[in-house]
Amino acid sequence: MIKSDIIGREDDKRKIISLLRQPHEIQNVSLVAIVGIGGLGMTTLAQLVYNDGEIKKSFEKSMWVCVSDNFDVKTIVKNMLESLTKKKIDDTLSLDTLQNMLGGNLSSKRYLLVLDDIWNDSFEKWDKLWTCLMCGAQGSKVIVTTRSRTVAQTMGVCVPYALNGLILEDSWSLSKNIAFRDDTTGVNRTLESTGKKIAEKCRGVPLAIRSLGGILKNKREENEWGHVLRGDFWKLCEEKDSIMPILKLSYRNLSLQQKQCFSYCSLYPKDWEFKKGELIQMWMTHGYLEMFSRRAMHGRCWKPIC
Ligand SMILES: *[C@@H]1O[C@H](CO)[C@@H](O)[C@H](O)[C@H]1NC(C)=O
Ligand SMILES: *[C@@H]1O[C@H](CO)[C@@H](O)[C@H](O)[C@H]1NC(C)=O
Ligand SMILES: *[C@@H]1O[C@H](CO)[C@@H](O)[C@H](O)[C@H]1NC(C)=O
Ligand SMILES: *[C@@H]1O[C@H](CO)[C@@H](O)[C@H](O)[C@H]1NC(C)=O
Repeated sequence: MIKSDIIGREDDKRKIISLLRQPHEIQNVSLVAIVGIGGLGMTTLAQLVYNDGEIKKSFEKSMWVCVSDNFDVKTIVKNMLESLTKKKIDDTLSLDTLQNMLGGNLSSKRYLLVLDDIWNDSFEKWDKLWTCLMCGAQGSKVIVTTRSRTVAQTMGVCVPYALNGLILEDSWSLSKNIAFRDDTTGVNRTLESTGKKIAEKCRGVPLAIRSLGGILKNKREENEWGHVLRGDFWKLCEEKDSIMPILKLSYRNLSLQQKQCFSYCSLYPKDWEFKKGELIQMWMTHGYLEMFSRRAMHGRCWKPIC
């Protein structure tokens, strides 16, 4: 894990781990639901827990499945198997077959499953999936992350773990970590005071802090930071109760070439795990990277190729 992922989340991590350690209830498998708004870092928190050495040791099997807005029981079971065995599973297999395979792999095993980013609150679907999950040994745990309390209720979780924003001190630490990389010694006092005000305006949402930190990186002039602090986008954030204007700002701050490379990624389906090398080759094929090098060669005289 990178250092900035942990800032301000050690306590949350400890609490989730203690929830996982709680003695099992009536059923073999029990649930921990993490609920919070987008950008708070629920997935990151689940990853911190999932990758924790002690946690790894205390479960015999572990699986990570990204669910997102397509809650399809067969797909989830298939992805569980793939996560478990690190092998591709034939798409044409029936749910029955998949369920049997899963049962075979998990029977009398204590497992940990993360179902990341669930949106669907249909009880029938959840009930069907839950039946497939019952195959584990006593003490098996499922962590779900969702933005919706209704989803947690559908799963029968009365008291989900509500993830909150970072406290101000941690927000500033995170800002500093991104804006100054790790070299935070001797940060100019004036910048520090402006930086803290910017961090405060992000209301503890790590994604917002990261995006702005990225914009402030490489900027060391007081007025540049002041410009961000007084930006019009804050008003939009408040009106819409959303961090979207901040994300948009960080997109607008990309150079034309970077924008093109970044936008290209929208061709991937949501949550698609792409290979870095492949993506770079695609960019090259489209001539996007040539523009970078031409620009480097000819200063400001480059022309887009496409
Ligand atoms: C475990 O899952 C794999 C598919 O990933 C399957 O081929 C195998 O038969 C399963 N093992 C058992 C014991 O069912
Ligand atoms: C959940 O899935 C069902 C069936 O696919 C669909 O009709 C419903 O709209 C979904 N609900 C949400 C909140 O996505
Ligand atoms: C911080 O940097 C600005 C220039 O951006 C400078 O004017 C100011 O004196 C510096 N403040 C301190 C405390 O070093
Ligand atoms: C990036 O943001 C800063 C501050 O908001 C702005 O002054 C600058 O023009 C932006 N850069 C680009 C390339 O849009």
